[in-house]
Amino acid sequence: MDTILSMKNIKKCFKNKIVLNGLTFDVRKNEIFGLLGPSGAGKTTTIKILTSQILPTSGDSEVLDTNVYSFNRNILNRVGILTDNSGVYERLTVWDNLKLFTDIAVTDKTNIDIMLKRVGLLDNKKTVVKKLSKGMKQRLILSRALINDPELLFLDEPTSSLDPALSAEIHKLLKELNIQGTTIFLTTHDMVEADKLCDRIGFLNEGKIVELDTPENLKLKYAKRVITVKLKGRSEKISVGINAESAEKIRSWIATEALESIHSYEPTIEEIFLKVTGRDLI
Ligand SMILES: Nc1ncnc2c1ncn2[C@@H]1O[C@H](COP(=O)(O)OP(=O)(O)OP(=O)(O)O)[C@@H](O)[C@H]1O
Ligand SMILES: [Mg+2]
Repeated sequence: MDTILSMKNIKKCFKNKIVLNGLTFDVRKNEIFGLLGPSGAGKTTTIKILTSQILPTSGDSEVLDTNVYSFNRNILNRVGILTDNSGVYERLTVWDNLKLFTDIAVTDKTNIDIMLKRVGLLDNKKTVVKKLSKGMKQRLILSRALINDPELLFLDEPTSSLDPALSAEIHKLLKELNIQGTTIFLTTHDMVEADKLCDRIGFLNEGKIVELDTPENLKLKYAKRVITVKLKGRSEKISVGINAESAEKIRSWIATEALESIHSYEPTIEEIFLKVTGRDLI
């Protein structure tokens, strides 16, 4: 599996505060990777180091085969970045905003209209940004990050403050981009988003990755090995272990038509998040 970026033992201190403390992980080419962690865990700091906006205190970070210390314009032209401060100009039209950023990016790769079509904003190209809805504006900000047709896209909370329908629109767009070959590294507080969208999830806590795997594997790992059944005429549910003895019980409940419902327990990504960050127990 090809690696598109990696961090090895990254440490980052602000004055005497240690934010990242031995951060080690890889992102593979063509995956959607989600970095999750409590507020203040260092997710934005991680993106800033990966995109060379700040340097680590120590450790190694490589993006597109280039060490973070030797980042240059060539590399920046191959990545797209969406962060809190990816602003757009409210008084300019949608099209003029993209024209401006195309000029800054010094790229001739992109046709603005194609880009606007891709994010579903072509019909609004003459609209002044301040008249756009929140979802449209977020798509414009996203198109700005896509202007250089990046191989690797960094998204810092791409759907925060969007309602579920607008988030779903962005998810669809991100999936399409991913299918077309863009690797996506995102941070999010939205556990459902992480579950639906990401091929792999890394949990960041106290400066380190404390868990990293596919959503499916994480759920299996943290699943309680129990089956919950509800029997006819009984208000409470019964939990039984997954073993031969339970199989016999369940068989007889089915045979005597006593069984009303039966469920295995699978934790949500949110429950796993709470567990690995020490906030709760499952
Ligand atoms: N330039 C800076 N100077 C000093 N401290 C900083 C700086 N940037 C970030 N920090 C601190 O580093 C820690 C991690 O911040 P960061 O923004 O990376 O967290 P985050 O995981 O992105 O949080 P959130 O989920 O709230 O966006 C915080 O305690 C923050 O106050
Ligand atoms: Mg952040």
